[in-house]
Amino acid sequence: MNGGARLIRGELLYCLADPGDEGSKESYVHHEDGGLLIQMGRIVASGSWVEVVALAPAGTPQEDYSGRLIVPGFIDTHIHYPQTDIIASPGHGLLDWLERYTFPAERRFADPAVAEEVARFFCDELLRNGTTTAQVFGTVHPGSVDALFKEARSRQMALVAGKVMMDRHCPDFLSDTAQSAYDDSRRLIEGWHGLGRLRYAITPRFAVTSSEAQLEAAGALAREFPGVGIHSHLAENLAEVAWVRQLFPWSRSYLDVYDHYGLLRPQAIYAHCIHLDEADRARMVATGSSAAFCPTSNLFLGSGLFDLGEALTSGVRVGVATDVGGGTSFSMLRTLGAAYQVAHLKGYVLPALRAFYLATLAGAEALGLTDELGTLEVGKAADFVVLDPAATPLMARRVAWAESLDERLFLLLTLGDDRAVAATYVLGERAWRREP
Ligand code: GUN
Ligand code: ZN
Repeated sequence: MNGGARLIRGELLYCLADPGDEGSKESYVHHEDGGLLIQMGRIVASGSWVEVVALAPAGTPQEDYSGRLIVPGFIDTHIHYPQTDIIASPGHGLLDWLERYTFPAERRFADPAVAEEVARFFCDELLRNGTTTAQVFGTVHPGSVDALFKEARSRQMALVAGKVMMDRHCPDFLSDTAQSAYDDSRRLIEGWHGLGRLRYAITPRFAVTSSEAQLEAAGALAREFPGVGIHSHLAENLAEVAWVRQLFPWSRSYLDVYDHYGLLRPQAIYAHCIHLDEADRARMVATGSSAAFCPTSNLFLGSGLFDLGEALTSGVRVGVATDVGGGTSFSMLRTLGAAYQVAHLKGYVLPALRAFYLATLAGAEALGLTDELGTLEVGKAADFVVLDPAATPLMARRVAWAESLDERLFLLLTLGDDRAVAATYVLGERAWRREP
């Protein structure tokens, strides 16, 4: 299926490193008239169109996206697929919202048929928005993860997912135990982790809903399976932070709880990280853990303003995330637009190129997937998205005035959403195309 060679033509852009505030020439690759040669799902040539076309066997089929921008597929570092159907549900802050909407919605995933149907829609929606890889929360039910992995596997998508571990401060109908969470997670890791492009993440919901015994079990899994991810929430909301202080009186900070149980390391990703101090940031850097910046969710749930400038200056690895259903959009473009605005309120003006880095290569770095994803270099998986900077009448007017790549990127993240995604490719196959 992925065997046939094909040529893709369009404006090519990808980062090789964090472009920082200056966007140094070495940090990114840009070809106004660029091309990719793809074979067996991988990029075998990448560069200017003339260079790439010269390397292609005669008669290789071509897809022409001239006037469109081709970038690596977006990487959403934190999203909940079981919350797809409760997006846009207002609550009085995180804890109220969890009780009122989230837990009842997650209860439905005890039924495999529900999980399968939502997983199908969820994967469609990711692709429609140009997201080719996501790190995904399931529910407490192991079957929720089976359903998602099955769906992702049928589409060859590189998804990371895990079963929620949650044994206290939640309804009985969603509660597991330290032992069952360990056993179920272990079975899922052995069954799915490394199968094709799928990877597992150990997923304690957050410190509030796991007993000390369960966090110990999560730490034991992390030790036994050093290659799997770790995925949770951290310091999102002030009431939550105060609760964690009460539940773990011995801890120096919220982050310290996870640290204590051996849950900080490269490929450990913590959503939100709004209310951290300098010592926490230093610890994240020292352990190679990552923060998932969830701007639309943080605004929607009134959680607070993540200090992106401070995090980046401190050297904390940061990915960007939609956090649907707390987040208000599947679109990573919309999410970057919100990221720009939140950063600005905290005194940091996020350059557009750095924003694209955060949504692509930085996500691959956080997930430990840079061998495979995050750029359009030769040897990488051909997961990419075709963006149309003139997707709407207003965008078309604005792009006519754009004088630089930077301006075009900026208008895409400010005005763009799923309408700006012309096509999405997974392993070189077109997995989504917007009708002309
Ligand atoms: N903290 C614990 N669970 C959740 C969740 O489902 N969403 C968000 N945004 N924060 C959480
Ligand atoms: Zn979340």
